[in-house]
Amino acid sequence: MPITFHIKTYGCQMNERDSEALACLLEMHGYQECAEEAESDILIFNTCSVRDQAERKVVGKVGLMKKLKRVKPDLVIGVIGCMAQRMGEQLLEELPHLDFVAGTDQLQNIPAMVDKCLKEHSRQCAIEMGPGVFRELDGHRPGRLISEISVMRGCDQFCTYCIVPYCRGREKSRSIQAIVDEAKMLADTGTKEILLLGQNITAYGVSEARAQGIYTPEFSAFADLLEALQEVDGIERIRFTSPHVRFMNDRFVEAVATLPKVCKSFHIPVQSGSDRILKLMHRNYTAAEYLDRIAAIRARVPQATFSTDIIVGFCSETQEEFEMTHQIMREVGYDMAYIFRYSQREGTQASKTLLDDIPEEVKHERNQILLQELNDYVKAANAKAVGSTVQVMVEGPSARNPRRWSGRSDLNKMVLFEPAEELHVGDIRDFTITRATENALYGTLDNL
Ligand code: SAH
Ligand code: SF4
Ligand code: F3S
Repeated sequence: MPITFHIKTYGCQMNERDSEALACLLEMHGYQECAEEAESDILIFNTCSVRDQAERKVVGKVGLMKKLKRVKPDLVIGVIGCMAQRMGEQLLEELPHLDFVAGTDQLQNIPAMVDKCLKEHSRQCAIEMGPGVFRELDGHRPGRLISEISVMRGCDQFCTYCIVPYCRGREKSRSIQAIVDEAKMLADTGTKEILLLGQNITAYGVSEARAQGIYTPEFSAFADLLEALQEVDGIERIRFTSPHVRFMNDRFVEAVATLPKVCKSFHIPVQSGSDRILKLMHRNYTAAEYLDRIAAIRARVPQATFSTDIIVGFCSETQEEFEMTHQIMREVGYDMAYIFRYSQREGTQASKTLLDDIPEEVKHERNQILLQELNDYVKAANAKAVGSTVQVMVEGPSARNPRRWSGRSDLNKMVLFEPAEELHVGDIRDFTITRATENALYGTLDNL
C-alpha cells in the first residue's frame, strides 16, 4: 500500500500554488495524494498569517487533529507556510502532536522531512531562508485549463501593517526563461490561461536589477516578461496579481494595454483613499498617484475593469479619512473588492509604533458601508452589461448548478449559459448577455 498524504491550504493563491508544487514533489517521492483527510498517513497544513482570524482558524483545525492522532499514532502531521515561518519551534511547543514545521523556503526539503518523521518518529523544524535555500519548483497538475505560475517570491515593500515580508522573506524573481518554459510546458498539457503570482508583482526583477546597478524609473522587467509570455503558443489569456502602484510606470501601462493576451481586468490594491493613512501604511503612493495610474490604463483601454484590496479601521483612521476611501471606491467603480478590517500583527512596524485604536464596532460598520457600496456598483454594472457581447472561456459545468455551464469573461466576470453540443471546455467564444444578477451574468452563445 502506498503511503498517502493530504494537504489543506489556507491563505492566498501563492499558498495554493505552493501546495500544488509540493503535492507533485511528494508524488515524485512515491507518496500518493488522498482526498480524505481522515484516511491519509501524512497531513500537511499550509498556513496563512495575514490576519489574526486566519491563524486562529489553523490553530483550531490542527488542535482537532490531536484526537485523530490518538487513534492513528503513526499519523504524521506537519504545518508549513507563513505561520510555520513566523512561529517556528513555538508551534512544536504549543502543539505536542505536531511532527514537523517547515517554513516558506523549505518546500523542496519537505519530502525528506516526512521520510524522517515516518522512519525515526523524530520531530523537526526547518525555517531557514535565503538565496541559497530558495529553489524553483515547477510541478503542476496536468490538464488544468487555468494554471498559476509563481514568478517571484517574497516582498520588500514592508507595508507597516503587513506580516508577509516576515513570512516570505526578500523579493526573489525567477528568470524570464524559466517562466516561459513553465508556461510552454503548461500549454502542452492543456492550459489556456495563466495567472502570474507575486506579492509585489510589478517589482518583478527589480531587486536583481538594483543589485546589478541597472534599475531606472523606466525599468519594467515585468513588461518584458508579459511580452515574452505573449509569444507562447497555446496560452490564450494572461492575468496577474498583485501589482503595486509604485512600479506601475508607463512601460508597464503600455504593455498591459497593448498585449492582446493580457486580460483587461486589473487587481490593483489601494488600501486607503487618505494620503495620511497611505503614508502611515508605507504604501509609497498618494491617492492622486493611484488614480493617475488607473486613468493611464483607462486612457488606453476604456473597457478596463478594476478590483482592489482595502483595509478599514487602520490605526487612527478618522471618519473623514474613511470617507476618502469610500470616495475613491466611487471614483474608480471597482467590480470586485476585498475589504478587510485592520488586524494588528505582532512584529510588524505598525504593531510597534502605532495604536490599534479603532473599536471593532467601528471597523465593522466601515466594512459594511464599503460592502454596500460595492454591491450597489456591481449590481448596476452587471445590469448595464445586458445586451452586450463578451468573450468567455468555457470552463464546463458550473459548481453550483451542474446543468448549467460557466466560464469567465476576459474581464473576469462569471458567465452562466446552457451547454451546447458545439461547445467544448477551453473554447473561447462570444456570448450575448441576456440577464444579470449581483453575482453572475447569463448569456447565450452567439452564432457565427
Ligand atoms: N501583496 C499584496 C497583498 C498581500 S495580503 C499587495 O500588497 O497588494 C492581501 C491583502 O490583505 C492586502 O492587500 C491587505 O489589504 C490585507 N492585509 C494585509 N495585512 C493586513 C492586516 N494586518 N490587517 C488587515 N488586512 C490586511
Ligand atoms: Fe504586504 Fe505590502 Fe508586501 Fe503586499 S506589498 S505583501 S501588503 S508588505
Ligand atoms: Fe497569507 Fe502568507 Fe499569503 S500570510 S496571504 S498565505 S503570503
